[in-house]
Amino acid sequence: MAVRVQTVAFRGIEAVPVDVQVQIAPGMPGFAIVGLPDKAVAESRERVRAALIASGLSLPPKRITINLAPADLPKEGSHYDLPIALGLMIALGAVPGDAVAGHVVIGELALDGRLTPVSGTLPAAIDATARDMGIICPADCGSEAAWAGEDLDIIAPPSLLALVNHLAGTQLTARPQPKKREADAVLPDLGEIRGQEVARRALEVAAAGGHNLLMIGPPGAGKSMLASRLPSILPALNPRELLDVSMIQSIAGELAGGRLSDRRPFRAPHHSASMAALVGGGLKVRPGEVSLAHNGVLFLDELPEFAPAVLDSLRQPLESGEAVIARANARVAYPARFQLIAAMNPCKCGMAGTPGHTCRRGDRCAADYQGRVSGPFLDRIDLRIDVPAVSATDMIAPNRSEPSEAVAKRVAAARRAQAERYRQMGVPGTYTNAAASSALIEQVADPDTESRDLLVRAAEKFSLSARAYHRVLKVARTLADLSGADTVARPHIAEALSYRLDFSAS
Ligand SMILES: Nc1ncnc2c1ncn2[C@@H]1O[C@H](COP(=O)(O)OP(=O)(O)OP(=O)(O)O)[C@@H](O)[C@H]1O
Ligand SMILES: [Mg+2]
Repeated sequence: MAVRVQTVAFRGIEAVPVDVQVQIAPGMPGFAIVGLPDKAVAESRERVRAALIASGLSLPPKRITINLAPADLPKEGSHYDLPIALGLMIALGAVPGDAVAGHVVIGELALDGRLTPVSGTLPAAIDATARDMGIICPADCGSEAAWAGEDLDIIAPPSLLALVNHLAGTQLTARPQPKKREADAVLPDLGEIRGQEVARRALEVAAAGGHNLLMIGPPGAGKSMLASRLPSILPALNPRELLDVSMIQSIAGELAGGRLSDRRPFRAPHHSASMAALVGGGLKVRPGEVSLAHNGVLFLDELPEFAPAVLDSLRQPLESGEAVIARANARVAYPARFQLIAAMNPCKCGMAGTPGHTCRRGDRCAADYQGRVSGPFLDRIDLRIDVPAVSATDMIAPNRSEPSEAVAKRVAAARRAQAERYRQMGVPGTYTNAAASSALIEQVADPDTESRDLLVRAAEKFSLSARAYHRVLKVARTLADLSGADTVARPHIAEALSYRLDFSAS
């Protein structure tokens, strides 16, 4: 009779139930794992054998077959070690069979029988809660599993031997508690930035509505400095967002010590990043930077230095809020609703447009450099601003600029207003104007006749696309929210239009 142990496979951030069936039968001695295992799962055989020996059990010279069902679902990762080892121990009679019934089991084994942490514990624990089951996972993953709920039965032992003792009732391991990550020391503050009033205002608007922002300016103007100060004015994640962000981090193996943080993710990949690193996928299907930036910020510094094909691969997630990875044997979608902040110089030498400067390569300098960023990609950026060099007068000015704390208060108030509006309208999961659908934004940002005229004239003059039209409306709605206005008026539309800097003219 085959022994069965429950575990999971991951499809995107979703955990799919997998049945580990173990059979020990007379015949030619052997150990086979079937059911579409990848290399890490196939190698599990050697780890399991060594860990069992280290725990005082040896495998009999019989025919051992492990089946991972459903057989047509690809199995990736090292977390199948523990369910396989437990199945074998039950089949050998070392552990009572009913002890693990009703538990989802995940964990990797070291050769000495210790349990090493695995990625995906949080989604597995949430799946276990939904199915009214408990979870058995490595000790290091315990506090991560504990986030899934107070009622979840969690067994998180440090080793295979400790697990056997716990199941036998001789030495119990305590239930782990959820842990929060301590907030990082102090974030860089906006108060350190001199001058740059327009850029500071644009950063505030971007933070308030979750809008995409592109800053164009000469070297040393403070673009990277401004972007790195965005986290200090963004509000904390709400519980729903926190769960989504943590699930992605868990799958990617980036939840250090199982501690969750309610700070919004801020990802700043280098411009040499590949498409797989940015969008996800690669040899092993895993979330990319766009998904790790979900509900947070993706900062692309030196935008034109990214490979054009890599930038264009962001077009789809920017629009749909999802990164879809299609492989021959798998198609997964990871959430990727991020806020894009980008910075660039106007040309290769960095100074085009600065009064008194002529590029050595003439007009082509700016055109060639800016041409690396495609039109459709730019069309997705709501706020495009010029960040000129700081004037000497601003640099020597004695008083500091407004600190992040004061700006964060206004941003939080505007975000509260948006979340409350969309909640009242019955649109769950929409918290910002940037995330609202076109139909929804037309409804909530209905401009008065005067501002509608302005918008129509601008749309004709600058030949705004339908997307650009809606994005202007979204920014205008955020401006109204920042000023506490109920309706979108002419100054809001005018300011929103001013942020759509004509790219090639800069
Ligand atoms: N507005 C400013 N206020 C105070 N310091 C500034 C300002 N702008 C630049 N600096 C100083 O210049 C340094 C460089 O700024 P930063 O790296 O942000 O420039 P950048 O615009 O990103 O340039 P590049 O285009 O070369 O990347 C900062 O570390 C800071 O010391
Ligand atoms: Mg920079």
